[in-house]
Amino acid sequence: MRLVLLGPPGAGKGTQSARLVEKLGIPQLSTGDMLRAAVAAGTPIGLKAKAIMDAGQLVPDEIVIGIIDQRIDEPDCAKGFILDGFPRTVAQAEALRELLAKKGIGLDAVVELVVDENALVDRMRKRVEETLAAGKPVRADDNPESFRTRLDAYRKQTAPVSAYYAEKGELKKVDGMLPIDEVTAAIDKTLGH
Ligand code: AP5
Repeated sequence: MRLVLLGPPGAGKGTQSARLVEKLGIPQLSTGDMLRAAVAAGTPIGLKAKAIMDAGQLVPDEIVIGIIDQRIDEPDCAKGFILDGFPRTVAQAEALRELLAKKGIGLDAVVELVVDENALVDRMRKRVEETLAAGKPVRADDNPESFRTRLDAYRKQTAPVSAYYAEKGELKKVDGMLPIDEVTAAIDKTLGH
C-alpha cells in the first residue's frame, strides 16, 4: 500500500501514520521528521532547513523531493509506505507522480484529514504540554507565531494539493475532528480494511 496522508499542521497525520505503520507493516515517511533529524545532525540539508522550519515556512521543493526520491528506494519501502507531510506543494505532487512512474509504481490512496482550523492551535498547545510533561524538547515551530505561519503556508501552498488529487479523482476525505480511534476507523474503512 502506497499512501499519502494530507492535512494541515496538527490534523493528526503523525498520530494516524503511527497506527497505520503497526497495522500495515510499512514505514511512515515524514519529511518533517527527516528534516528535524537532518537539523539535529547538522547535515548540509539541516543547516539550510533550520531557520525556514523554525519560522514555519516550507523548505524548498527540490530538497524534500530529493529526500523522498532516495528514501523510497530503500528496502523497507518495497511493500509500500505512508507519506506524511509530503507532498505539500503542487510541484511536489507532480514530482512525486513522475518519480513513482519512473520506478514503475503509483499511489494506492490519498487521504485528507479534514479539520476545523480553530481546533488546531489547541492541539498544538496540548502537544507542547505533553512533550514538556514527558521531559522532551518542544519543537521549535510549536509556538503561536510559527504555527500561524504554518497554517498560512498550508492554506496557500498545500490546500491546492488536495484540489490536485481531487481533480484526478484520487482524493478521499476523512473527518479529522472525530476522536482519534474514530478517525483511525474511518481511515480503515476508506482503505477497505
Ligand atoms: P511536519 O513535521 O510535517 O509538521 P506539520 O505538518 O506541521 O504537522 P504536525 O506534525 O504539527 O501535525 P500532525 O498532522 O502530524 O498532527 P499530530 O498527529 O502530531 O512539518 C514541519 C515543518 O517541516 C514544516 O513547517 C516545513 O518547514 C518542513 N516540511 C516538512 N515537510 C515538508 C515538505 N514536504 N515541503 C516543505 N517543507 C516541509 O497531532 C497533533 C496533536 O493533536 C497531538 O497532540 C495529537 O495527540 C492530537 N490529536 C491528533 N488527532 C487528534 C484527534 N482526532 N482529536 C484530538 N486530538 C488529536
